Amino acid sequence: MRHFAAQAIAPADMAALLEAAVLAPSVGNAQPWRFVRLRTPALREALAGHVDAENARAASGYAQEGRREAYRALKLHGLREAPELLAVFCDDHATAGHGLGIATMPEMLRYSCVTAIHTLWLAARARGIGLGWVSILDPAAVTALLDVPPDWTLIALLCLGYPETPSDTPELERRGWQTREPLADRLFER
Ligand SMILES: Cc1cc2nc3c(=O)[nH]c(=O)nc-3n(C[C@H](O)[C@H](O)[C@H](O)COP(=O)(O)O)c2cc1C
Repeated sequence: MRHFAAQAIAPADMAALLEAAVLAPSVGNAQPWRFVRLRTPALREALAGHVDAENARAASGYAQEGRREAYRALKLHGLREAPELLAVFCDDHATAGHGLGIATMPEMLRYSCVTAIHTLWLAARARGIGLGWVSILDPAAVTALLDVPPDWTLIALLCLGYPETPSDTPELERRGWQTREPLADRLFER
């Protein structure tokens, strides 16, 4: 989901997606997710410029020329076009939940944020809205741009909007980068 139609997301739909996200399960019911909705055009451009620079760096990391060129041909974010951008952070010192469940695995707070993102993602798809997760970035740089409290960790930068061309096949599969692999190759028994 990197090619977005110009159609805006209705405010009621955007509100419904966020209301769905915060119903997600979380460790200790800590609800450690924090959403930052991008409202400032200059910030959007700063984020897009940053990701473009990191993307160019990632491309040069492919030693094999064919793979490098194939990578460069991919569109890997829609930060300039998507009608809505959301950054999702984890409050690593969330007081809600009173520490339940994180004594041995503090990372559970961050995994909880991913459940919220996935809930939002499914609620979006149910409305025909697409979501693109952008991870080709330096989290410290994005966190600094968004000026959030120091104990918030960046989990995701999300682009939301209606797909230009809806498809049930992942774009990376359509473009020959990577196919879906069979469940049998991913399931193990002990
Ligand atoms: C954790 C995570 C990180 C991702 N990062 C990126 C990314 O940086 N760039 C990108 O193009 N797709 C990324 N994706 C994949 C897209 O978000 C996903 O394939 C897309 O939204 C679905 O649309 P598609 O069917 O067109 O692939 C990421 C997905 C996940 C779950």
